[in-house]
Amino acid sequence: MLNFAIVGCGRIAKRHSELFGSNQIGGANLVAVCDIILERAKAMGERFKVPYYTDMNRMMIGENVDVVSILTPSGFHSRHIVELAKFKKNIIVEKPLAINLEQADAAIKACEENGVRLFVVKQNRFNVPIIKLREAVKKNRFGKLVLGTIRVRWCRTQDYYDQDAWRGTWAYDGGVITNQASHHIDLLEWMMGEVESVFAKSIRALVDIETEDTVVATIKFKNGALGTLEATTATRPKDLEGSISILGEKATVEVGGFAVNEMKIWNFLNEEEGDDEVLNKYSVNPPNVYGFGHKAYYEHVVDCIINNKPQLVDGYEGRKSIELISAFYESIETGKEIFLKDFKPVKCKLGMLNLK
Ligand SMILES: NC(=O)c1ccc[n+]([C@@H]2O[C@H](COP(=O)([O-])OP(=O)(O)OC[C@H]3O[C@@H](n4cnc5c(N)ncnc54)[C@H](O)[C@@H]3O)[C@@H](O)[C@H]2O)c1
Repeated sequence: MLNFAIVGCGRIAKRHSELFGSNQIGGANLVAVCDIILERAKAMGERFKVPYYTDMNRMMIGENVDVVSILTPSGFHSRHIVELAKFKKNIIVEKPLAINLEQADAAIKACEENGVRLFVVKQNRFNVPIIKLREAVKKNRFGKLVLGTIRVRWCRTQDYYDQDAWRGTWAYDGGVITNQASHHIDLLEWMMGEVESVFAKSIRALVDIETEDTVVATIKFKNGALGTLEATTATRPKDLEGSISILGEKATVEVGGFAVNEMKIWNFLNEEEGDDEVLNKYSVNPPNVYGFGHKAYYEHVVDCIINNKPQLVDGYEGRKSIELISAFYESIETGKEIFLKDFKPVKCKLGMLNLK
C-alpha cells in the first residue's frame, strides 16, 4: 500500500481526495492533507479521517508519506516541488508542471538532484477515446499526417475568475491556453509530434482579468503537417466543447464532447476488424470537464511506482506543453511567427507579477 498526501485542499483536491477516500485506487491510501487555509485542511482531513496540516514541511516530517500530490495554484507548483523534493518522496503535480520554463527547469533539477520521481497530471491522456486515437497514431494508421485541430469552447464567467486571487493572473495562472487548453495542447503534440513554429492572436473578450480568455493559433509541425488551436472560456451560456481532430492521408478521427470524451469520427481508408464498433465502444460520459481520467491516472502512478515502470508524463514531458504555450504568448506579444528551435521566451509574461 502506498501512502499518499495532498498539498492544497481546493477545487481539484476534491476530485483527488474522493478517489483515495472512497478506496477507488487499489494500492493507494490517503494519510494526510495540508492547506494554508485551516478550514480547508480541516474539512478534508475530517471528511477522510486523516491528520490535517497547514504547513507542508510539518506534514512531511510528521507522516509516513510515499507520494505527495501538489494541488496548489499553478504559479506555486515549482517552488512547492523544490521545497518538497528534499524529502525524497515521489511527487505528483497537477497540470501545468510550472507556470514558465525557468520554473519548470528548477522543478526538474530539484527532483533529479534528490532522486525524486516527478509525475505531471495529464489525465486526458487516459480518456478511453484518446487512448484509442493514440493507438491508431502509433500504428501509423493515418499515414502522412496533414492537419491537427483542437477546440476548447468552455464557459468561465467573471465569478469563476473572482473566486480566487490567482485566477487569470500572469504570475500564478495564465489565460485560457495555460489553464483550460493546456490539456488539449498536450494531446495535440502527443498525436502530431514535435512543433516547428507557432503563430497566435489573443483577446480578453468577456471578463476583467490580466490574461486572455480567447486565443486562435496556427501550428507548423516538424513532420510538415499543420495544426490549429481555438480556445476560449468566453463561450456562453455554458460549456460546449473540448475536442481534437487528426487528419491524415489514410484517416480522419475526431474526439469531441465537452471534455474530449466522445469518439465522434473514426474514418479509415483501410478498415480493420472492430473499426465499425469504435464509435459506440469508445465514448464515455463524464460528470464534469475534468473527465474520468484522474482515476486512470492514479492507477498509472501506483503501477509505475510499485512495478518500477516509466511514467507517461515526467518533468520533461510536462515541460513540452509549457514550452509550446510560452511560444504562443511570445507570438501574441511580438506579432511574429515563433520557431521552437533554440526558443527562449523574452516577451512572454507567464510568471510575472502584477502586469494588468
Ligand atoms: N487536471 C485538471 O483537469 C485540473 C482541473 C482543475 C485544476 N487543475 C490544477 O490544479 C491546481 C489547483 O487548482 P484549484 O482549482 O484546485 O485551485 P484552488 O485555489 O481551488 O486550490 C488551491 C489550494 O491550494 C492551497 N495552497 C496554496 N498555497 C499552499 C501551500 N503553501 N500549502 C498548502 N496549500 C496551499 C490554497 O489555499 C487552495 O486551497 C491548478 O494548478 C490547476 O491548474 C487541474
